[in-house]
Amino acid sequence: MRLRLVGHRRRVRRSPPRRRRRKPLLTEARGLEPHSSERPLATYEDLGYRDVFWATRRYEDACDRVAIRALLPPRGNRLIEVGAGFGRLADEYRGYGEVVLLDSSEVHVSAAREALAGDARFEVLLGDACALPYPDGYFDTAVCVRVLHHFADPGPLLLELGRVTRPGGVLVLEYANKRNLKSIARRVLGRQGWSPFELGSVEYKPFHFDHSPVGVRRAMHKAGLRIETMRAASLLRVPGLTVRLPLRFLLAAERRLQAPLGSITPGPSVFLRARREK
Ligand SMILES: C[S@@+](CC[C@H](N)C(=O)[O-])C[C@H]1O[C@@H](n2cnc3c(N)ncnc32)[C@H](O)[C@@H]1O
Repeated sequence: MRLRLVGHRRRVRRSPPRRRRRKPLLTEARGLEPHSSERPLATYEDLGYRDVFWATRRYEDACDRVAIRALLPPRGNRLIEVGAGFGRLADEYRGYGEVVLLDSSEVHVSAAREALAGDARFEVLLGDACALPYPDGYFDTAVCVRVLHHFADPGPLLLELGRVTRPGGVLVLEYANKRNLKSIARRVLGRQGWSPFELGSVEYKPFHFDHSPVGVRRAMHKAGLRIETMRAASLLRVPGLTVRLPLRFLLAAERRLQAPLGSITPGPSVFLRARREK
C-alpha cells in the first residue's frame, strides 16, 4: 500500500514583493499548481532522511531533545507520535506504557518496526496524520515534531491531534517558524517579498511551510488546545557555526536560551506544550 501525503494546501498568503519579484517556485515554473492535492507533499520514499539528513545534524537532534525533555510529561499510559518517521525520538518515551508511532511513509514505518522489534510497548502504524484510527481522547500525550511544515494549513492536523488527546492531556508540538530573526532581517533589507508578521503560512521551498506563531495559536485554540509554554529551538543553526563550535558549547547556550526566548520566537523552530481543554 502506498499512501500519498495528503496535506491540506489551502490559501498561502504572500504580500507583493517590495523590491524584487519573488522567484517562481519550481512547481509554478513548470506550470504545475503548487498546492494541488495531486502532488505529494514530500516523498520520504527512501531512508535518506535517516541516513543523510540526520548524519550531519547532531546539534539539531540534541536541540529537539532538550525541548522534548523539558515539555513532555515524563510518565503516562498512552502516547502517540504522529509523523514519527523512522522512530528517531522513540527513546524519549520510556515513561509510557503504550506508545504508537504513526507515519505515512512505508520505508520509515518499516525502519521503525525493525529498530523497535522486541519492545512490546511500541506499535508502529502506517497512516495519515489527519485521519488517526483512534477514538476521541484516547491518548494522554500526543507528540508531533517536524511534521507541521508539510502542511500549508496547520488547522486540520491540529484538530486531529486535539481530537485524540484526552481532556487535560498534553500535546508537544514543533513547527517551523515564519517570524524568525533571519526572515525579519531579510524583510528589512528588502530581500524578501512576504512579511514575517503576516498571518498565514509561507512556502519556503516546495511542500515546506513556515507558519505564523499567531496563526498556529489560533488554530490550536480552535482545536481546544491551550498553549502552556513555548521554547525557541535550534537557535544557533547558522551556516558554519554548528560545525565550528563544540557541541557542548552550543548545547549549553541552547539550554539556557530556549525557554526565555520561547515567547519571542526568534529561531527557526518552535516547540510548545499545549493542554487539551476539559
Ligand atoms: C521531517 S520528518 C519528521 C520525522 C520525525 N517526527 C522526526 O522528527 O524525526 C516528517 C515526517 O512526517 C511524515 N508525514 C508527512 N505527512 C504526513 C501525513 N499526512 N501523515 C503521516 N505522516 C506524515 C513523513 O513521512 C516524515 O516521516
